[in-house]
Amino acid sequence: VLSDANKQEIHHVAELIKAHAEAVGADALARLFELHPQTKTYFPNFSGYHATDAPVKAHGAKVINAVLKAAEHLDDLPKHLEKLATKHGHELLVDPHNFVLFSDIIVVTLATRLPTFSPATHRAIDKFLEELVHQLSSKYR
Ligand code: HEM
Repeated sequence: VLSDANKQEIHHVAELIKAHAEAVGADALARLFELHPQTKTYFPNFSGYHATDAPVKAHGAKVINAVLKAAEHLDDLPKHLEKLATKHGHELLVDPHNFVLFSDIIVVTLATRLPTFSPATHRAIDKFLEELVHQLSSKYR
C-alpha cells in the first residue's frame, strides 16, 4: 500500500519526467532490448531496437505516458489499468515475467536521469511499479 509520502514522491518524479516522456521511454525500451534480447520478438516489425530508432521512440513515449497516467490514479489503479491489462493478457499475450524485467529497467533508467534519486524516492517508485506490474499481470485467465 502506498503511503501519502510515497504518493508525493511518485507525483514529484512524474512531474520531473513529464516533458521527457519520449526520451525516458526510448532509453528504457532500448535497455530492455539490450539486456533481454528475447523481448524483441514481441516487436518484430520494428526497424531497429536502439533509443534513436523511430519505433523505439514512439513506443517508448506511449509506455511512459501510460505510466505517467497511472501515477495520476494511485487510488484506483486496478480499475484504471484494467483495459491495458486485458490488452496485454488477452490480445498481446506478453509473458508477464517481462513486466518485472521492464519495471526494474524503468527504475534504473530513472536513476540515471533524475538529478537525485534518494532511497525514499527509490522505494516509492519501486512500490508503485510493483503495483502496476501486479495489475498488468492480472488478466491472464
Ligand atoms: C502496447 C504499456 C510492458 C509489449 C502497449 C501500449 C501501452 C503499453 C500503453 C499501447 C496500447 C494500445 O495501443 O492500446 C505498457 C506498460 C508496460 C508495458 C505501462 C509496463 C510498465 C510491456 C512489455 C512488453 C510489452 C514488458 C513485452 C516485452 C507490448 C506490445 C504492444 C504493447 C507488443 C503492442 C505494440 C504495437 O504493435 O502497437 N503497451 N506496456 N509491453 N506492449 Fe506494453
